[in-house]
Amino acid sequence: MAPLRQTPRYAATALMAQILPIDDASIARAASILRDGGLVAFPTETVYGLGADARSDVAVARIFAVKNRPDFNPLIVHVASKDAAANLVSFDARAERLAARYWPGPLTLVLPRRADCPVSLLATAGLATLAVRVPGRDDARKLLRTAAIPIAAPSANPSGRVSPTTARHVVDGLGDKVDLILDGGACAVGLESTVVDCTTDTPTLLRPGGIAREDLETRLDTPLALAEESGDGPKAPGMLARHYATELPLRLNASAPQAGEVLLGFGAVSEATLNLSARGDLTEAAANLFACLHRLDDPAYAGIAISPIPEEGLGRAINDRLRRAARR
Ligand code: TXA
Ligand code: MG
Repeated sequence: MAPLRQTPRYAATALMAQILPIDDASIARAASILRDGGLVAFPTETVYGLGADARSDVAVARIFAVKNRPDFNPLIVHVASKDAAANLVSFDARAERLAARYWPGPLTLVLPRRADCPVSLLATAGLATLAVRVPGRDDARKLLRTAAIPIAAPSANPSGRVSPTTARHVVDGLGDKVDLILDGGACAVGLESTVVDCTTDTPTLLRPGGIAREDLETRLDTPLALAEESGDGPKAPGMLARHYATELPLRLNASAPQAGEVLLGFGAVSEATLNLSARGDLTEAAANLFACLHRLDDPAYAGIAISPIPEEGLGRAINDRLRRAARR
C-alpha cells in the first residue's frame, strides 16, 4: 500500500494556508487559481512573489489588500519569456541587449507599455510604462507558461516586513490570506531583482538588486543614471505626484457635485456618475480607482468631485493617491 502523504510541515502554525511542494500537479492547480483571479505565492530566484492575474483590477487590488500596502506602487509583471514580454512592452536596442544577457534572471526592465497591453492600470499605478521580468527558476517559468497570463507579483510579505525567501516566511507573514503557497525551498538570490528604467535617455537604476550595477554598466558600455535618492533608498517612482494627476481638478471629501462637476462616489451616494464601490468596499474601490479617474477625466466637466473615503486599510492608499492627484 502506498504510504500516506505526510502532514504538511506547516500544519501546526498555519492551519488554513494551503502549501504544496512545487511540482507539475501543484503548478497546474496554481495556474488555474491564478486564471480565476486568485492569489498564489510562488518561489522565484530572488524572493517569493505574491502573484495575481496582472490583467485584473480586482485580483491586483487583492494583492494590495493582503499586503496591507500603504500605497499603490507599480508592480512588476512576470512572464515566461522575452517573447511574452514583447506582447506587453516595446523593446529598444538597450533593452534587447540586457534581456538577451540577463533573462531569465533577476533583472526587471521598465519599458513603454504597448498600446494593446492588457495589464491593469492599478498594477502600473496609471503609468505609461511597465516593469517586466522573466524569473530565473525553471519551475516559476513553468507556472507562468501554464497560466499563460502576465502575473503581477510583489514580494509575498506584509508591507514593511522583510521579504520572504522561504515558503515558511510566506506562511508566517500572510498565512491563510493567500489561496495557495507553492513551496520551492529557499530562494537562491534572496534579494529582489535589479530594476532598470530603459525609458530614460541614459538607462536609470531604480532599485539595486540581484544583478550588480557594474555588470550592467559593462554590458551597456555606459554608466547608469541613478534614481533620486531619498532618506531610505531610491525614491519609488510611484510616489511622484504627477504620475497620478488628472487633467481636471479634483475636489476631495465632497458630499455632492457643484455646478459643472462630475461626482465619483463611494458608498451609497445618489448623484454619482461612477461609484468606486456602491457597497463601500475598499478593495473594490481600489480596483476601480485608476479606471474611474481615467473615465471621468473628460473636458466636458469642470472638475471631479470625490466622495469621502475612510482613512483605514486600503482607504489610506486610495486617499494618498487622491491627495497626490489633487495637488496642483
Ligand atoms: O525580485 C523581484 O523583483 C520580486 C520577485 C517576486 O519577482 N518582485 C518585486 O516586485 O520586488 P515589486 O512589485 O515589489 O517591485 C516593484 C519595484 C518597485 O521599486 C517599483 O517602484 C518598481 O519596481 N516599478 C514597478 N513598475 C515600475 C514602473 N512602471 N516604473 C518604474 N518603476 C517601477
Ligand atoms: Mg517588496
